[in-house]
Formats: sequence, C-alpha cells, structure tokens
Amino acid sequence: MSTQEPAATRRQVTIRTLRQKKEKGQSITMLTAYDYLTARAVDQAGIDAILVGDSLGMVMLGYENTLPVTMDDMLHHCRAVARGAQYALLVGDMPFMSYQVSVEQAVGNAGRFLQEAGMDAIKLEGGRERADAVRAIVAAGIPVMGHLGLTPQSVHQLGGFSPQGRQAAAARHLLEDARILEQAGCFSLVLESVPAQLAELVSRRLAMPTIGIGAGLGCDGQVLVTHDLLGLYDRFTPKFVKQYARLHDEILRAFAAFQEDVAARAFPAPEHTVLMADAEWQALLQELE
Ligand code: KIV
Repeated sequence: MSTQEPAATRRQVTIRTLRQKKEKGQSITMLTAYDYLTARAVDQAGIDAILVGDSLGMVMLGYENTLPVTMDDMLHHCRAVARGAQYALLVGDMPFMSYQVSVEQAVGNAGRFLQEAGMDAIKLEGGRERADAVRAIVAAGIPVMGHLGLTPQSVHQLGGFSPQGRQAAAARHLLEDARILEQAGCFSLVLESVPAQLAELVSRRLAMPTIGIGAGLGCDGQVLVTHDLLGLYDRFTPKFVKQYARLHDEILRAFAAFQEDVAARAFPAPEHTVLMADAEWQALLQELE
C-alpha cells in the first residue's frame, strides 16, 4: 500500500494546517531530517513537518551534545532538506548561541533560515527568557516553534538529559512558560521529556498545537529523531523511542558481507563486470605481440 497521498489531494503543509489539525483532533506528525534523501522519504511518507534539528550535531556529526553546532552547520543541512521535501512544513532549529546573545541577532539568524536555506519556520528552546526574541522574530514575519521541558542546549544547567517538570512547582513553571510563548506568538510547541499528565494539561490549555517527544499521548502530535526511529544511532536510545527498524544492524551486515565477498574474490561477479568483445580482445593481444 502506498503511504503517499495522490498528488491531487496532497497540499503544502503550513502552520495553519497544523492549527486546523489540532482543532479537528487529528494528530500531527513531525520527524527530523538532515539530508536530501531522508527529507524525500519523510515527505513521500506524508509526514506533516520536517525538523532539521540541532540533534544533527550528535547523530550526523558525532558530538557528545548539541552545543558545538553552528549556524553554518544548520544552514548547510537545511538547504539539503529543502531540496528533498515538497509538501512538509520545514522547521529549522536555531543552534546554541544563535538567539541568546541579543534580540537583534536572534532575528537576523532566524531570517537566514528562511532567506538562505528554504525553511518555512524556525524552532528555539526556552520559555519566558526567550519571549522578547520570539516576539521580534514573529514580528519579522517568521513563524516560531517553541521547545520546553528537556531543552538539550541547557544540558549543563539541567544537570543531564533527564525528564523535566516532575515536581508540582516545576510543572506550574512550565505551564506558565507555555502560555507566555503562545502569547509571544509561537505557532506550535515541542514538549520534550515531560510527564504525560503535564503535557496533556498544557495541550488542553493552549490553542497552539503541542508536539511531544517523550511526553505521552496527550500531545497534539508526535516527533522523533529519525535516526532513533530507524535504529541508526547505536550509541544510545532514549526510553521514549520506538524503533521501527534496525538499520544500524542491517548496515553492519551489508558492510561485513562486502568485506567477506571481496576477501573471497566473490565480488565483482560476472554480472557486475564489463568485458571486451572477443574479437577486440584478440586484436589488442595481436597488436601487443
Ligand atoms: O534537535 C532536535 O532533533 C529536536 C527534537 C528532539 C525535537 O529538538
């Protein structure tokens, strides 16, 4: 069965589409992509939104966390994704220190995602402390997705990659932050690694759609890091990930088989080989005698 909607009924997903899906009680889907081929596949599968997440620092570039990722890294990967996707809403993740220094810098860097890299919207992490930046970016005409809960760019402040909002006071703080972000103009909010009851409460109290990762079923949509979903990232798999494939194992199997075939001279086989016509070969040999 094809997962792709017929071209005639398939429409460009916009921030309005996401709002309408929430209003109709339809779940929103988002996956990360960092390259052309993956973006094509995510788009063809009918996923609503593609996040070019700064998680690329870990799963593509091999860093321990997302902090070393730069604007140049992000724009490079965003451009590749934009070339591969046709319908999905494209969200570029603002990297660490690209929006924290000043509101002016935040607006300038947010603009680069749309102007230079084909994104439709940007995402940034943080609550009330980012409200001024969100307001200014939205005022410049750039849609902003918020991100609360486990915000990986604050890993050192949070003391690790652990769930957030488990105590009543922290949960109240997160709910207030969510309201502030909505009032500042965010069109959607990622809730990462927060208790399911809290995520559901936030989702009910906000008009903007929430997209959960490790935040239970009560969110308006779900996002996963594609490398986790595909079982490609073998270093660590968070508890909230469902692996829909085990591609790392499959890739290892293929590489090991290639290694064995070449060692055993079983590759290339006749079907992978080009030969000269016998007459041409004999002519060459005669010439060389
Ligand atoms: O960078 C990323 O991939 C993210 C998702 C985990 C939401 O922020």
